[in-house]
Amino acid sequence: MAKKVLVSGGAGYIGSHVTVELISAGYDVVVADNLSNCDMTCFDGVKKITGRDDIPFYQIDCCDYDAVDTLFTEHKIDAVIHFAAFKAVGESVAKPIKYYRNNLVSFLNILEVSKNHGGCNVLFSSSATVYGEAEVLPVTEQTPRLPATSPYGNTKQMCEDILRDVVKATASSSEEIRGIALRYFNPIGAHPSALIGELPRGVPNNLVPFITQTAIGKRECLSIFGNDYPTEDGTCLRDYIDVVDLAKAHVAAVTRMLGGKMKENYEIFNIGTGRPVSVYELVTAFEKVNGLKLNYKFVDRRPGDVTAIWADTTLANEELGWKAERSVEETLASAWAWERNL
Ligand code: WQD
Repeated sequence: MAKKVLVSGGAGYIGSHVTVELISAGYDVVVADNLSNCDMTCFDGVKKITGRDDIPFYQIDCCDYDAVDTLFTEHKIDAVIHFAAFKAVGESVAKPIKYYRNNLVSFLNILEVSKNHGGCNVLFSSSATVYGEAEVLPVTEQTPRLPATSPYGNTKQMCEDILRDVVKATASSSEEIRGIALRYFNPIGAHPSALIGELPRGVPNNLVPFITQTAIGKRECLSIFGNDYPTEDGTCLRDYIDVVDLAKAHVAAVTRMLGGKMKENYEIFNIGTGRPVSVYELVTAFEKVNGLKLNYKFVDRRPGDVTAIWADTTLANEELGWKAERSVEETLASAWAWERNL
């Protein structure tokens, strides 16, 4: 019988791509989402891409313990991939209580319910933000985490630690939790079908949706934050990971957990390409691959941005047998196709 994976936040940007890849890998998927930061566009897209109209969907808030408990009573969940969280860095600085309550309580509920239903495999969506302004690049999983610069980043660190502690406390018990934290670098792009992709509400914070919205005319001009960084072209360096590649890393991680292949009951993997790309390079690549001119200007640095961060992906390559495959050009073409499709 197919193993069953709960995807919390499964109607969102990354969750919808992961749902597609899980289904195509033969898993049964249950989606939970409170639709607080998305509508049904992507979930409808998932149904079209997979040809599956019967994916169980729970419109619940994972902060509601009883609702999560009911879901686990109705389905025998073999693994959980937990995306359900708020993710706007700036908003988290203004509304820390909102972020701590939502991101911590929902994860605690997932863990407690998992434990009470006889243990589970839990994959947590963490972030490269835990490394802060690292001194040595690229970062490995052993690179020390630095104090978070936002409540959002802090919730990622705290949830990693909570997972580590719960894994330790439940080891070899009838309530055993095994955990993997995937630290994503900068997820971008959309599914090749252009049926699912990133759907930011309001003015996008992230670079690629701002680029595509500028190109389509929704925004007048892209501001490139800073061209006086100590990099070759003066703009920041990031590791932009294609969202479909990222989704496949989740399938590899879940398969590792369910196949009993973990070396430790709690593991961490960097999920990136291993290649640094500057903001300016990304903008230029977008123009070139899509044959258009983007309206952009250089403005002051954005407070809180690190100069450069990219991943050493050796561990994920070797242990998960996974590697980022799509080129940044393909990814940027998919982001543009998705924007036009909207
Ligand atoms: C990338 C680069 C900007 C917008 C954030 C979170 C992280 C993770 C992903 C989120 C930077 C520059 C951006 C714009 C620009 N999690 N930029 N003009 O800041 O690397 O990471 O998103 O859920 O935790 O911190 O991503 O896309 O915002 O920025 O010049 O309008 O693009 O300065 O160098 P970031 P980003």
